[in-house]
Amino acid sequence: MRETAARYYSDRARQFGATARGVDWNSEHSQALRFGQLLRLTDERDMTSVNDYGCGYGALADYLRQVGRRCRYTGFDISESMIALAIATHDADPRHTFTSDPDTLAAADYTFASGVFNVKQDHPADAWQDYVLATLGTMDRLSERGLAFNMLSTYSDPDKQRHDLFYGAPGFFFDYCKTRFSPHVALLHDYPLYEFTIFVRK
Ligand SMILES: C[S@@+](CC[C@H](N)C(=O)[O-])C[C@H]1O[C@@H](n2cnc3c(N)ncnc32)[C@H](O)[C@@H]1O
Repeated sequence: MRETAARYYSDRARQFGATARGVDWNSEHSQALRFGQLLRLTDERDMTSVNDYGCGYGALADYLRQVGRRCRYTGFDISESMIALAIATHDADPRHTFTSDPDTLAAADYTFASGVFNVKQDHPADAWQDYVLATLGTMDRLSERGLAFNMLSTYSDPDKQRHDLFYGAPGFFFDYCKTRFSPHVALLHDYPLYEFTIFVRK
């Protein structure tokens, strides 16, 4: 699954470069809206470092700077083409690190994942969900204070749902995070996209 995802996103990166389209978003506006939801419940005072899991070309690093959140930032992506774009566009800031090697990742205060679980391609939904849960376990281990991720929602209009995308049941993921990772979990499903964000505070 990692390999098919890496191929898919490397193709996007080669085709559209360091743009919202290059990471499969419709617009920079929706990309930033998602970042806002991931950060919505974080506290500036306890966020000195972040891991961006599935960082693409590093747009979250730019967003953090724009909204005045100063912290060390490590971007990780399975697509080497994405990491090459991220390095090429962010090499000036010494607080930024980018890698495609999961073994070099260290724990940070928070780990964020935006859009990482959406495109399952031809994989069966139940197998993809297992893969998502394994990835959430990894994110949990990399997070000292909290983690947040987003996902397309099963509450999306049925006639708009696509076979190649994964739609998660918000209640299932809320329960999973609450029983495995921390008793302090928020489910945000109140913003104008067909998805939800889960924030886990540890
Ligand atoms: C929709 S894009 C979003 C990129 C970035 N988070 C943003 O919002 O601009 C999803 C990214 O996750 C990466 N990705 C997918 N599965 C991954 C995995 N298992 N581990 C690390 N990165 C992954 C893809 O290569 C792609 O760059």
